[in-house]
Amino acid sequence: MQDLDAQCRAVLTQLRQEGRYREFTPLARQDRDFPYCRVTRGGEEGRAVLWSSNDYLGMGASDVLAQAAIEAIEQHGVGAGGTRNISGTTPYHVALERELASLHGKEAALIFTSGYVANAGALSTLLTSFGGNWHVFSDAKNHASMIEGMRHAKGAKRSIFRHNDPAHLAELLAAAPADERKLVAFESVYSMDGDFAPIEAIVDVARRHGAVTYLDEVHAVGMYGPTGAGVAERDGQAQRIDIIQGTLAKAFGAHGGYIAASAAVVDFIRSTCPDFIFTTAIAPPVAAAALASIRYLRGPGGVALRERHQASAARVKAALAEAGLPVIPTPTHIVPVHIGDAARCREVSRRLWEEHGIYATPINYPTVPRGEERLRLTPGPLHDENLVKALVLALDQVLNGKGEARVAMIEEGVSA
Ligand SMILES: Cc1ncc(COP(=O)(O)O)c(C=O)c1O
Repeated sequence: MQDLDAQCRAVLTQLRQEGRYREFTPLARQDRDFPYCRVTRGGEEGRAVLWSSNDYLGMGASDVLAQAAIEAIEQHGVGAGGTRNISGTTPYHVALERELASLHGKEAALIFTSGYVANAGALSTLLTSFGGNWHVFSDAKNHASMIEGMRHAKGAKRSIFRHNDPAHLAELLAAAPADERKLVAFESVYSMDGDFAPIEAIVDVARRHGAVTYLDEVHAVGMYGPTGAGVAERDGQAQRIDIIQGTLAKAFGAHGGYIAASAAVVDFIRSTCPDFIFTTAIAPPVAAAALASIRYLRGPGGVALRERHQASAARVKAALAEAGLPVIPTPTHIVPVHIGDAARCREVSRRLWEEHGIYATPINYPTVPRGEERLRLTPGPLHDENLVKALVLALDQVLNGKGEARVAMIEEGVSA
């Protein structure tokens, strides 16, 4: 045991030395006051502003979800009480899967306990099915959860195509033996770089080579497309994608993940995927909240929120650029600020938090390559002009030493 402890400590020391040691920041979000959260400092209560939430639209703090969850708790209690096969399926789970299928224009959908598990489970199951001979073509910047699914698919070949490069994908597909079963896995919005995939071009190439298409819309569902079904909907491509994967935990403000596809594919995964079969179903109040959120975001309330969301991201990008701050240009709602060094990135984030009451997550290797360390800002519909001004002042102060530290913000709220 002593050896194990010493080995663990050695790795942790190394992580600390490289500025890559991860520490949690406990944040008590304020349901009526998002994007503020409550913090306790020196025994005193104050508030801070969340600039790095993946609850992109603030739905997790809305009455729409809270009411649905409360009603479900009153009807069904909290936990699901079993796997989906063993007493864990409630009417909420059934209705949620129907809603997800309809959202994406697919025959069926299947809920997993998270977006991570959906990717890892669906991909590893598919890529080991039907006697093997699979070859998966994966975008170079695909998320760890997809990589996990592919790694677990022992026997499946894997080729990595250059990020967002359909021409490279075409080259790799053309070089692959004709008798292989092929699958192309990619994302619609890459959450660290904040760029869109050229979905139509990738699907064109995949179809030309008879490859199945698997699209992760985790950072797009709720936020893009006329009904919030994602970038494939916006681009008129949803019907051409075989399997769409998403999360209920980001813009939908709840928890859980899913795939949507043909009835046969979904039933096959439902019947054979261990990551789906052998784990407790998501809690009924969570399913109820996710269902309410999706229904809301498909309607006029969602259209208005999506417009405000995009306007907010544009305002932040313009304000940072105008102040000469190192914002990395993106076409999406994700706003990265380049720092370029792990220790400095952590220090900038710490000072924003301690001196300005601003929560901005530092993103370091291995999430991004070394030298590309950054803060990842996610402006939401509720970040108003005053909050944007305060953010710019704070970043200017921390990065360039301009102006005064404004510790008072934490106690007073931001009013600049
Ligand atoms: C691209 C992508 N796919 C999947 C996931 C996992 O989703 P979840 O947080 O629901 O597990 C993430 C998480 O951030 C992600 O960025």
